[in-house]
Amino acid sequence: MTQKVAVPAYLSQAGKDYLTDHGFELIETADQKAATLAKEATDADGIVLMTDPFPNEMIEKMPNLKVIARHGVGYDNVDQDFFGDHGVWVTITPTANAATVAETTLAAMFNISANLTADINHMKAGEWGWAGNHKGFDLAGKTLGIMGYGRIGRMVAAKASALDMHVIAYDPFAKGDGNAELVDRDTLLKTADIVTLHMLVTPETTHSIGEKEFKMMKPTATLINFGRAALVDQQAMQAALRNGEIAHGFVDVFDEEPLPKDDPWFSTPNVLLTPHIASNTTECMNRMATDAASEVVRVLNGEKPKWNVNQLK
Ligand SMILES: NC(=O)c1ccc[n+]([C@@H]2O[C@H](COP(=O)([O-])OP(=O)(O)OC[C@H]3O[C@@H](n4cnc5c(N)ncnc54)[C@H](O)[C@@H]3O)[C@@H](O)[C@H]2O)c1
Repeated sequence: MTQKVAVPAYLSQAGKDYLTDHGFELIETADQKAATLAKEATDADGIVLMTDPFPNEMIEKMPNLKVIARHGVGYDNVDQDFFGDHGVWVTITPTANAATVAETTLAAMFNISANLTADINHMKAGEWGWAGNHKGFDLAGKTLGIMGYGRIGRMVAAKASALDMHVIAYDPFAKGDGNAELVDRDTLLKTADIVTLHMLVTPETTHSIGEKEFKMMKPTATLINFGRAALVDQQAMQAALRNGEIAHGFVDVFDEEPLPKDDPWFSTPNVLLTPHIASNTTECMNRMATDAASEVVRVLNGEKPKWNVNQLK
C-alpha cells in the first residue's frame, strides 16, 4: 500500500516532487494546526512539519506516524523525547538554512544602521527632509555581540568579518573559530552595540533576556531576535524600547504566530517586525523542503535518518 506523507500545501514544490518521485502519496493541508491534522492527516505515515505546535496527543490522532521531519532547525514545537519513546523519529534540516538566516541578520543590521525602512516610509509619505533629522549610524567600529555560537551564530560572525566590526560571542558550549572573540555573558550584554540572538531554546535560555539584561545593555544598543520568541521576555523588551533602555529592536519570531492584530508589538516604538522570514528565500525554502522530505523517505524506506534529534526507545 502506498505510504502517505502529510505536508503543508505551501511546502515548496521541490519538496512535494521529492516525495512523489519516491512513490509517496501527499496529504496536503491548508495549515498544520493540531485540529486540522487530526481531521485530515490521520492516516499519514510521515509528516513535514513547519512551526505549529505538534502536541503529544497527536500520537493517538496519527497512529501510523513514523517520522516528524521538521522543516528547519528549531524543534521547540515538538517533544522529541516523547515521540522517540513512542517510536517516532524527529529530524531537522541542519545544513539548509544557516547561511540564509545569517544573511537576513545582516540585512536587519544594515536596515537599522542606515535607517532604511523609516527613510523609505517617510519619503513615500512625501517627507524628503525627514532623513536629515533622523540619522543612522556606522556599523564599522561598533561591537556585534552574538549570543548562541552554533551554525547560524558562526555564519553571522563569518559574514560580518568584512564589516570592520568588533565581533564577540557568548556560548557556554562553543569553541572559538577565529571569527569572534568568545566573551562572558555580562561582557557581551554590556559592550555590544548590536546583540543578536541565535541560541537554542532550553530551560536556561527561556526568557533569559529580560528586565535585568535590558538594564545592562547600552541605551544606544539594538537587539535582533531571529532565534525564538521564548528567548526573550516580550513585555520587558517592549518596555525597554518604550523607555529608551535600548534604542532599536528587530523581531522576527513571536509567542503566537501569526501575531494577533491587537498584540502590543504593533504599538511598540523603535522596533521593526517581520513575520518569521529569516529563512524565507526561494533557495533556502527549496533546500529545507527537500532535506525534510529526504528524511521522510529514508525513514519510511526503513533506513535510519541522517539528522535525527531523538532516539527511539
Ligand atoms: N527566524 C527563523 O526563521 C529561524 C530560522 C532558523 C533558525 N532559527 C532559530 O535559530 C536558533 C539557532 O539555530 P542554529 O541552527 O544555529 O542552532 P545550533 O544548535 O547550531 O546553535 C545553537 C547554539 O545555542 C547554544 N546555546 C545553548 N545554550 C546556550 C546558552 N545558555 N547561552 C548561549 N548559547 C547557548 C548552543 O551551544 C549552540 O551552539 C534556533 O533556536 C532556531 O530555532 C530561527
